Amino acid sequence: MGHNLVMVIFTIFLLLCSASASRVRDFLAAGDFDVTSPKYGGKPNGDISQPMANAWKDACAAASPSRVIVPKGIFHLKGAVFKGPCKAPIEVQVNGLVKAPADGAQLTNRAVWIQFSQLEKFTLSGSGTFDGQGQKTWKENDCNKKPNCLPNAISLRFDNVKHSLVRDVTSINSKEFHVNVLGCEQLTFQHFTATAPGDSVNTDGIHIGRSTGINITVTKIATGDDCISVGDGTRQLTVNKVTCGPGHGISIGSLGRYPNEDHVSGINVRDCTLTSTLNGVRIKSFPSSPKATTASDIHFEHIIMNNVANPVLIDQEYCPWGHCDKKTPSKVKISNVSFKNIRGTSSTPLALKLLCAKGLPCEKVELSDTDLKLSGQGTLTSHCANVQPTITRVPPALACATKA
Ligand SMILES: *[C@@H]1O[C@H](CO)[C@@H](O)[C@H](O)[C@H]1NC(C)=O
Ligand SMILES: *[C@@H]1O[C@H](CO)[C@@H](O)[C@H](O)[C@H]1NC(C)=O
Repeated sequence: MGHNLVMVIFTIFLLLCSASASRVRDFLAAGDFDVTSPKYGGKPNGDISQPMANAWKDACAAASPSRVIVPKGIFHLKGAVFKGPCKAPIEVQVNGLVKAPADGAQLTNRAVWIQFSQLEKFTLSGSGTFDGQGQKTWKENDCNKKPNCLPNAISLRFDNVKHSLVRDVTSINSKEFHVNVLGCEQLTFQHFTATAPGDSVNTDGIHIGRSTGINITVTKIATGDDCISVGDGTRQLTVNKVTCGPGHGISIGSLGRYPNEDHVSGINVRDCTLTSTLNGVRIKSFPSSPKATTASDIHFEHIIMNNVANPVLIDQEYCPWGHCDKKTPSKVKISNVSFKNIRGTSSTPLALKLLCAKGLPCEKVELSDTDLKLSGQGTLTSHCANVQPTITRVPPALACATKA
């Protein structure tokens, strides 16, 4: 009898223990690390740099999936480094408005505001906004005149991030690029928004370099520089249902500028709309490239141009601000490129220009089912040099009307 009672009490004790242990586990499994919780101490209108760093440290060390949360409200952030590897899949969910200091000198790191690095199975999500407060920086930017100007901060930098997702969040008024992707694999941007005024300086939307399997889908970019720019070493990039404008359009390159550049291949741009951009879809490379590389398997399909100044462009004599030597041609070999089903309006007469490198003609270039109308004054025309594209169902004015 007594023995049974002891057993019952002991069993109840064990049950209680395991219940509380599983409560602890549940708390960890639910894995929410709110920067405004008492433990981290973030306050609305306060600086969350330290709360964010502490919450990330705990979340990254958690053995089960975890989430760092920035709730609704306004928060200030001098800088953040979300560095892995972490023990388990991890998410940063931002629902509030997170603001950078207006003065770049106040940032923790002048060149990067928020950095994500060495992560796998990472998600950046939420209805929130990252405000780079770049207005002062654009006004003071003199990098076009001074090659050794101080760096300005990229708002969101992804280095070595794999099998990961960025969704729903918004970036506004970055001091420099909104997003820079380097050395990443299988990283998707979905329902992402980046905006800055059309006259802001160097505010590229998403720049990608040395990365494989990047997917940008259902994304809206309105900014002062390239909408999406694709640097050397990019492979298997999909750009799908992206709207651009204002800005400089979707660009492969600039390529062929530096000695250690890698090849570009497998770029698919589909179902995109460009409105009032300087360029539509383009491939650009510098003359006098220090190294021979290739840019191949690049396809632009179902693209709508609304009042775009240079809708279709290959420019292998790209030389902004005269900062290059035009004596020898570009050594970037362009091949297997198609422009299909490109429609809408051009704001300048020269709606299509394919200017390939002298002595290194572009190969396997296809132009089909394309028709553009002129929204400005003049007569629509096109120009091709060092390229003989296969042309089907394109009106004569757009079908290499003049040739070099
Ligand atoms: C890109 O992402 C979208 C949305 O997740 C998906 O539907 C699509 O299949 C992806 N494309 C590629 C090539 O991965
Ligand atoms: C051209 O590119 C496509 C898509 O990347 C690829 O499937 C095809 O094999 C390439 N064609 C040639 C001739 O290289």
